Amino acid sequence: MSVGTECEPYDLASHLPWSRELGITWNWVDKNEFSRWSGTAHPYIATIMDRFKAPFHRDFVLMIDADVIAIDRFDELFENQNELSGVLAHWSPFAQAHQSTWNRLFSEYGLSKTPFQYEHSGWRAMSNDENARKSPFYINTGVVFGSKGIYERLQQPYFEALEFVRGEMDSYFFEQIALTLAVERASIPVRALPLRFNFPNQPEFEIYNPVELADVRLLHFLRTPIVSRERDFVDFSSVSSLIAREDLAGSNEVLRRRLAKIPFSARDIFGTPIPDGTAAGIRHDILGRVVGIFEARDVFNVGANDEIRNGTGESHPDLVTCFDRLIYLSSASAYQAAIDDLTGYGSPLLVSGFDFAPMLPDPATYFHQPLSRSLEEKGYTAIPLGAYEESVVFIALPPAMGAAARDISTTTLRTAVQIVPEPSLLFEAVVSSRAKLGFFPDHLPRCIEYPWISSNLPQRPALRILDAGAGVSVLPFMLAERGHDVTTIDSHSLIRILETKATWNEWGYLDYGLIDPRIRSFNVPYQDTEDNLALDVVVSVSVIEHVPNSVRKAWIRKAYRQLVSGGALLLTVDTVPFSRQLWNFSEGKQVEDPGVHGTVDDLARDLSETGFVVDSVEHRDWLPLTKIGMARFKAHKPL
Ligand SMILES: C[S@@+](CC[C@H](N)C(=O)[O-])C[C@H]1O[C@@H](n2cnc3c(N)ncnc32)[C@H](O)[C@@H]1O
Repeated sequence: MSVGTECEPYDLASHLPWSRELGITWNWVDKNEFSRWSGTAHPYIATIMDRFKAPFHRDFVLMIDADVIAIDRFDELFENQNELSGVLAHWSPFAQAHQSTWNRLFSEYGLSKTPFQYEHSGWRAMSNDENARKSPFYINTGVVFGSKGIYERLQQPYFEALEFVRGEMDSYFFEQIALTLAVERASIPVRALPLRFNFPNQPEFEIYNPVELADVRLLHFLRTPIVSRERDFVDFSSVSSLIAREDLAGSNEVLRRRLAKIPFSARDIFGTPIPDGTAAGIRHDILGRVVGIFEARDVFNVGANDEIRNGTGESHPDLVTCFDRLIYLSSASAYQAAIDDLTGYGSPLLVSGFDFAPMLPDPATYFHQPLSRSLEEKGYTAIPLGAYEESVVFIALPPAMGAAARDISTTTLRTAVQIVPEPSLLFEAVVSSRAKLGFFPDHLPRCIEYPWISSNLPQRPALRILDAGAGVSVLPFMLAERGHDVTTIDSHSLIRILETKATWNEWGYLDYGLIDPRIRSFNVPYQDTEDNLALDVVVSVSVIEHVPNSVRKAWIRKAYRQLVSGGALLLTVDTVPFSRQLWNFSEGKQVEDPGVHGTVDDLARDLSETGFVVDSVEHRDWLPLTKIGMARFKAHKPL
């Protein structure tokens, strides 16, 4: 890919990592060479010409502009090996002075009679001027095909002709005109291709070339009034919006359908800028986050007009996306068929639609049933991630994702979605936990605790965090993923090894570094760890109630000594339902006499007496699907 602009060259492969995997090499045009054309009618000539420079590494070379897309196979191009092939330009660059200018150029360049033998591809579509109907071999260089040998023969004459044309005139078409002269001068055999090999997205061409349109191979979307290459390709969500359009016809519809078939990968998305808080911006942000959490490489986008009957069988993308389609389906049966198709992939589904009848009904949109219910009827769990206009965006998780015995059930997850303040953090915790550990505990309090810790951390980057009694949990991964420096402590004698992952639950000692090298782990009782760690945060999820009162007090003192001034302590504890008693069992055994073990208020007092400022104590008497209540403590060491 040849690129040129006024700036210094930079590493495009690093900037656009997907291009490396696709095998694209970026060729920067020399800055001085590029600048030579600034101020002319076509400042990008040097970039165009860069492609014509030897060496050519393959037997054949197909040059296409960046706004040309392959719609179908183009094998026929290879049939004639010794010709330079292209579709005639749409119209003459010289308008009224068509014949006289060509004649002048030919004669001044020392060529004999001008062969006006090829019909412009825009004859009738663009003009009926009989005078300019035919030209020499003057092609649209958006698509040029030839063998290596042909290009090698062409190179020198072409660059010479270009200099000549520049001396004669200032024209947007410098290089196309020069190619005509060079071909003539070097007696290069040529072939005029049918329009299907360089079909412009211009409705007038469709009227006069219906057969070519029906068999288009290479589409050139150079015209911008209907689909705009400048506007509709700036990022993934603008392409998604283009794919969702229902107003297109002819060549633009051919383009849309082709785009809808491209499985966009995560890499494509990350290379794009984020637009501001419009519907497109919200979709883009959610999509970027979801793709990141799934580490999805294979994303299948279902556009507005597609037949999506392939939602069963072999295809299992990492993620299926479908924005702004369901609300336009007028009949309940079409809506249901779309739901059937989308869920038929068995893949996670990122989908937008109405979850309630819209407050501002639009005659073009329809509400049939809450989208979350439609998804749940298919066994999916719908987790809301955001909303725009009156559509809600759900990530819908298919039923069979976590196969491990301890993995969260659909019932637990659906119940949790109803009660957590930030469902998107729950979604992240569940998906990451399944990916890293093979399960997310089928224990509803965890659905609340990990998101709570994550959203209550101080808002600073690169915190030093210690997770006391980390067991086997997704929390350290979530924290490391946010760029924090994470240490885990657990004293359990059961050492979790990767080979027996299928049997894991949340108890035990896991060396997290085996899975994520950013995390350090130590198999020691927390109360025995060093004092001077200068931590920003100590977190502990459902541990402190499992240790005796005396150990609990030692823990609190330890955390106080380890934290820097201003450092935060975040604790979650189980409580006896409908009471303020701390839960008093550990792995099935009673910890100590209930009178000794203490209450939520005792724990708050221990914190204050140690020197902490207690910022909040939240307590829920009971949590559904459990035998416990839950308290959450947020405290900090004063400055
Ligand atoms: C209920 S599990 C919770 C694990 C994890 N925090 C989670 O979110 O699932 C309690 C964990 O605390 C650990 N633990 C108990 N007493 C401890 C101590 N004194 N020091 C370090 N870890 C301890 C246990 O080994 C166990 O892994």
